[in-house]
Order: sequence, then structure tokens, then C-alpha cells
Amino acid sequence: MDKRTRRFFRFIATMAIVATVLSTQAPNVLAVTQPHPDRELNQEAIKKQLQVEGVEQVENGVKLNLSSDQSGFIRLFSEDMAKVSILKQGDNEYFSEAIQKKDWDTPSFEFSEQGNEITLSTKEITIKIKKEPFGVKFLDKEGNVINEDYMQNGSGYDGEKPYVYKKTTDDEAFYGFGEQGGLNVNQRGESIGMFNTDAYAYQTDTKYLYTSIPFFIGLKDEKAYGIFFDNTNRSYFEMASESDDYYYFYADDGTLNYYFMYGPEIEDVLDSYTELTGKMDKPAKWALGLHQSKWQYSAEDIERVAETYREKEIPVDTMHFDIDYMDEYRVFTWADKFGDQELHQKLDNLNFNKITINDPAVKKDPGYFMYDEGTENEYWAKNPDGTNFVGEVWPGDSMFPDFSQKKVREWWTGKHDILFDKGIDGVWNDMNEPAVFDGPYHTMPLDVTFGKGENKRTHEEYHNLYGHDEAKATYDAFEEFKPNTRPFVLTRDMYAGSQRYAALWTGDNVSQWDHLQMSIPMNTNVGLSGVPFVGNDIGGFAGRPDAEMFARWIEVGAFLPFSRIHYDADEKAEVEQGQEPWAFGQEVEDISKKYIEMRYELMPYLYNTFIDASEQGTPVQQPLVYQFQEDKNTHDVSDQFMFGESMMLAPVVKQGQTERNVYLPEGETWVDYWTGEEFEGGQTVHTNAELSHLPIYVKKDSMIPTREVQQYTGEKPLENLVLDTYLSDEASYSFYEDDGATLDYKDGEYNVTNFNLERKGKHIEFTSNQEKTGYDTELDSYTLKLNGEKAPEKVQAAKAKYENVNSVEEVKVNQETYFFDEGSKTLYVNVPADERHKVKLFFK
Ligand code: GLC
Repeated sequence: MDKRTRRFFRFIATMAIVATVLSTQAPNVLAVTQPHPDRELNQEAIKKQLQVEGVEQVENGVKLNLSSDQSGFIRLFSEDMAKVSILKQGDNEYFSEAIQKKDWDTPSFEFSEQGNEITLSTKEITIKIKKEPFGVKFLDKEGNVINEDYMQNGSGYDGEKPYVYKKTTDDEAFYGFGEQGGLNVNQRGESIGMFNTDAYAYQTDTKYLYTSIPFFIGLKDEKAYGIFFDNTNRSYFEMASESDDYYYFYADDGTLNYYFMYGPEIEDVLDSYTELTGKMDKPAKWALGLHQSKWQYSAEDIERVAETYREKEIPVDTMHFDIDYMDEYRVFTWADKFGDQELHQKLDNLNFNKITINDPAVKKDPGYFMYDEGTENEYWAKNPDGTNFVGEVWPGDSMFPDFSQKKVREWWTGKHDILFDKGIDGVWNDMNEPAVFDGPYHTMPLDVTFGKGENKRTHEEYHNLYGHDEAKATYDAFEEFKPNTRPFVLTRDMYAGSQRYAALWTGDNVSQWDHLQMSIPMNTNVGLSGVPFVGNDIGGFAGRPDAEMFARWIEVGAFLPFSRIHYDADEKAEVEQGQEPWAFGQEVEDISKKYIEMRYELMPYLYNTFIDASEQGTPVQQPLVYQFQEDKNTHDVSDQFMFGESMMLAPVVKQGQTERNVYLPEGETWVDYWTGEEFEGGQTVHTNAELSHLPIYVKKDSMIPTREVQQYTGEKPLENLVLDTYLSDEASYSFYEDDGATLDYKDGEYNVTNFNLERKGKHIEFTSNQEKTGYDTELDSYTLKLNGEKAPEKVQAAKAKYENVNSVEEVKVNQETYFFDEGSKTLYVNVPADERHKVKLFFK
């Protein structure tokens, strides 16, 4: 054991003593790190209710004079969004760094005051404010209550702690809350905490994970609303955990303010929430390919693994460089072997993208430029007495940049040329809770300070923003050094709004079956929290999977929005086991290749799903409830998910299982992707699922754009787009295309083409029309792939008769041809991209 490893084990042992959650299941670790104990609300204090003593109409709502020298504002931000603030004397209305859009056009609304009640109403919602005691109620335009305060306790402050109690009924479901443990997607009944925590090898019941997004969606009577409690302090959500009649949320400190947004569709709530906190950018296409990583890959390993992928023709885009690439963990340096130009050249020649990790902690090391510059300029987080805070991370004693200050962020941003000069394409921010090995509860003391003068904040208040601001500084480096290149930042820590800067991976998960299972509710809730670009370490980070577990994991992993295999250093593993697709023998290698190839085939669909995410905040990996909230049976489905709009995956996530039940949501006909068998929605079906089989169901009347497999994104130009279609009556798709790499789309360099296939009696008609042209496309044909059809009599566009050819291969490369595959009942038609006429497929 070297010194570093010993130190690591020492810290794990220390943490075991302070940790509050003791886990008996996790391999190799004694306990999972958790923060200081929860602070509860004082039950006596919250009985004291606020009263409205004065009312004043303001431009976009109402100002209330409240008892206890407090004031309240209820402001309408849009037809269906309002902000509620309750402020102590001397406090101003608050916006955290989460908020991207502060200025909203005031919607037209009516104001009235009658007796004990004030009413604000827009076209979409009505807000009724009760004066004595003070309470808020939101109604839809038909007068149904969507959400209301629980009047026994109401809202206000218990000392420093802002709190809000809300009424609920036992049929109300809750989603979102960012990254949460557990096996259920519906968070009703849960006690949730938000305090970013380095929870190495967390378990399903670990309360505090890495990321804090104090936003949730309530779904009641099929109608959805969202609440965003914008408070960066440690916060708590008791979601009907004490009683079926109420839920409440509160924070250790800070102001009471929350945004209420009405759906009624979940997608409307998310669209509003991401208008407020920002939407993710259009992603770089390469970042949607597979990533491979391991802690303690040597430089030789990186090269060998990259070569093996290419030799075995398993598609992959990116290799990650974990902390060993640095010179003794000094950030923004390279250890000789990893910085070696030959290595980088090799990876470039193999067409790999490269990502380096980057931690916030700067080694306390006079003479090291980062330490010297940061010290000279006073860039570090400080102890209450004004001295610099020093804490231990990988490099030993370290300093922590004060990312709350713009000039510190700019300094950090400005160092990224050291990475980019080696051809690094993306940056991975880790340990940004911030993790401090020898700090109390594995982070800094709560009284460490950030910022200066009136911007000074304690660590207690700033903690959950540390990763957010580091991600911003990293994101800005792309603009500075790689202008006109789409940034890719991966982070472990987020606050609400961090989706503007980074993708999220869910930290140090474990090679355990329940982690594979947990990844589905976890990711889908992250997706319902405004962060579509999310993934978990495939195969599990801590520990090692066996062949069966890895096979099942890659079946899910190939369809994660962020798809990366990453695993822990060998010294912490009980067995010698790699986590590359070929490390488990031929069968698992074949399974891995099959599903990874499928991801690459689906790249046009996946990319377009991300475009929706960037435009409407749509999650990529969706819980069934997202599209099917009217179907109550979907509300608790936690082991199936929608991969984009049209494909539903029902993976096996339990050991030894080779069959499973699948719930098919109501209102759709579902087609078994592998057999073509059709099922009406609204029922549970049983399916076999031997090791190599991932059950997939496609919505009838959907069109899925796909392409040929590539070894990496961008290997080949997209010349033929395959429209994989399951037609009943009519299927359509609005296809977005741009270069997938630059920001030129902002200048209009993109295309949108609308495809439509319609069954009209005995023939099918295909049309395509270009809604927007601006991108110089290489697409010259479309292959219509119609599943479950009959042989056509003829195919014709205006006068041009299409030729009947003899194979799929032929049809794909010859325009104006068609081929019917009798065995699979699939009809292929190759349509020139510039076809302006309707293409008609005639049947007997
Ligand atoms: C943390 C990260 C993990 C990384 C390791 C070494 O545990 O979560 O992904 O490999 O540190 O950098």
C-alpha cells in the first residue's frame, strides 16, 4: 500500500466514526459519509401563525404587511407561475444563482380584496390569499384547488428557519428533488435532505447525496404543479412522511421564497421551471457517444483500452483521464506520462475525444503557480478569523478557490488552456461538494466564509452552490479557449440551474443489483428536475460486477443520456476484474457490442431528443408518468422508462431474472421491438428476457430516425437517414439537424425537416417538407423502414416509379427503390432527399 492509499483508507476509517449512516451492505467500506445531523423544526414555534395586516397592490401582484414585522410578496411571473416571498424586516426579495430569468413580462391579471380574502387571477390560475391566518391557495381556471397551505401550520420562520406546510391527500404523488436514493420514483412518504455530500458507496437509503435541487412536481387528480424552494442552505422536504394530510419543506437558514408553477401537464411544469432556471445547451454530439474511464488507468492502459475498442469494433467516443494524469494531483498540471504528446497523438489518430478530471482543491505548495497566484490574490475560502482555510484532499493539504467571486472564477477559467492545449475536449469536475477528508463531516466547517464585503457568505449558505459555480467557471473556459465549440462539462455536484453548465453523473455508486435498479428512479427524477443529461457509472464504481450484472447494466447503460463506464481503483476491489465490455468473456462482449451499436444507430433520435431537452426542458430518460400522467398505473412504475418520445425500455435489474412483467401505459398500442407483436396499452404483459435480451416496446404510430452504426460519432457523414416507423394511421417526425459541434446553429445554421407517413385506404403516403433550411446537409436520401407491412404492388412519386430491388443493402444505396423483407415483414423504400412529390406506396 503506498502512502496515498494508506491515507485514503485512514480517511475512510475516520469517516466511519463520524458518519451517521452505518451501512452493512456496502463492500469495502465501513460507512457512507453524511453531513451533520438534521435540524428539526420546533413544533411550538410553527404553531404561531402569521396574519396579514395590510395589503398593497403592486405592478405584478401584491405586497402584504404581515405580523411579526414581516412582509410578503406574491408576484405573477406568467399566466401560470407565481413567486411567493415572506421576508423578515430588512431582508430583500431573493434570487439565488439558480435563477436565469429574473425579468418576466407581467401577465394581465385581476386583483380583488374581499373580507378575509385577496384574490389574484390570470387566465390560467387563481391565487387566493387568506389574511387571518395567512395562507395561500392556488386554483386552476375551473376553480379546482391545485395546491394550498396546510393551515394548522401555514408558513413562516422558526427562528432562522423558513418553512412552508402544504396540504396533501393520499393520492398525490411527488417527483423531482434532483438526485435521490431509493427504489421508488414517487417520493411520497420520503424524508428528503439537500446538502451536497461526497457519499462514496452510498446505499439505497442514504439520505444525502451529491446534488441539491430543491424542486419538485406534485401530481394530484391527474394535474401537475411544480414548487421550487430557492434556498441554497441545507433544506429538507418531508413529503407526507409524517402524515397523509400534509407535507412541508424548510431550510436551516435563508429567506422563504418559492415559485409555484402550474401544468397541468408535467411537461408544462418543466418547461416553466427550465425557463426560470435555464435549459441545457444543445450538446456536442460526441458527448452522446460512449465514454470509458477508470480511476488509475495508467497512460498505457488508456492507450491499450482505446485500441482494443477499435480492434473489436465496439463503438466509443471518449476516454477519460482520472486524477493520476496530474503531477501529484496538482490541478492544471500534467504528469509526464499522461502529458506525453505521443499518447495524445495516438488517441487523436484513433479519433477519440478526451476528458480530464479537475478537482477544486489546490495543493498547498509554495512555488506551485496555482498556490502562489491564489494566495497572492486572496482567492481562497477563509476561516472566520480571515486566515485561509486548509483541508486535505488528494494532494494533501489544499486550498479551496472561492468560486463565489467572479474574479476567482475568471482566474480558474483562464487556466484551462493547460488542458485544452493537449487537445482535451471536455472537463469533469469532481469533489466539488467540496469534499474535505479531514474536515468535519467530510467537508469544510460551516463557518468558513466565501465572498467579500456585503457579498460575504458562510459555507453553510454557499455549500450547495460550490459545484454550481465551479461548473460555471469551467463552462466559461470553452468560450475563452474554444470559441464556437460546444462545451462539455461533467459535474458531481449541482444546485438548481446547473443544467445550464454541465451534465451530471451520480457519483460513486456500487456494483450491486439494487444500484442498477435505483439508477432508473434516480435518473428519471433528475430528469424531472431540469437536468436531462445524466448518467451513472456503468457496472458500478465501487466494487466490481460479475458478468451477469455487467451485461444487465450495459443494457441499461447504453441508453443512459450520459453513457460512461467508470470504475474504482484496483486496490479497493476484492477481485481482479476490469470493466471494459470485453472483460467478462465473449458472451458479455457480444451483448455489450449489440446494445452500444444500437445507441449509435439511434444517434439521430437521441440527438433530437436532446434538442427537445435544450428547447423545452424535456427529460431524455423519462419515468412513465412523464408522458402518461393520466394513467394512474404509471405513477409508481420505477423499473421501466421511456428513452425519448417513442421507446419504452423494461430492463431486467434483478439478479437471476430471465423474465419480467412490463406495464404498457394506456392510450397507446405498443409494439414489441424485437418480435413486432402488438399489445394494447393499459395492461401488464409478461416477457422472457434471457441475459442478452432487453425488452423494448415502441409506441405504434411513431417514427424513429436512425442511421448506420459508426465506430464514433462523426466517423461518417449522415447521408442516408433511416425512418424506422411503426405505422397504424399516421406517424410524423420533426427532424432537426446541424453540425452537432459548433455554435453556428445560433446563426441559423440548422435544418428542420418534417416527415409524415399516412395510411389512406389502400395506400400509404410519405411527405417531407423543409420547415427550416440553414445547414449545409450531406443527407441525400431517406430510407423509410416500415415495420409490420405487406408487400406493396408498386411505389411511385408523381410519375417516377420506384424499382423493386432484392436486398436491404441494395435499397439503402439506390434511390427510388424499394424492398420488402418477407421474413421480418419490413418494407424499405429509398426516397431521395430532394423528392418534392408525395411518395405513394400502393397495396393490393
Ligand atoms: C471520486 C469520484 C470518482 C473518481 C475518484 C478519483 O471518488 O467520484 O469518479 O474516480 O474520485 O478521482
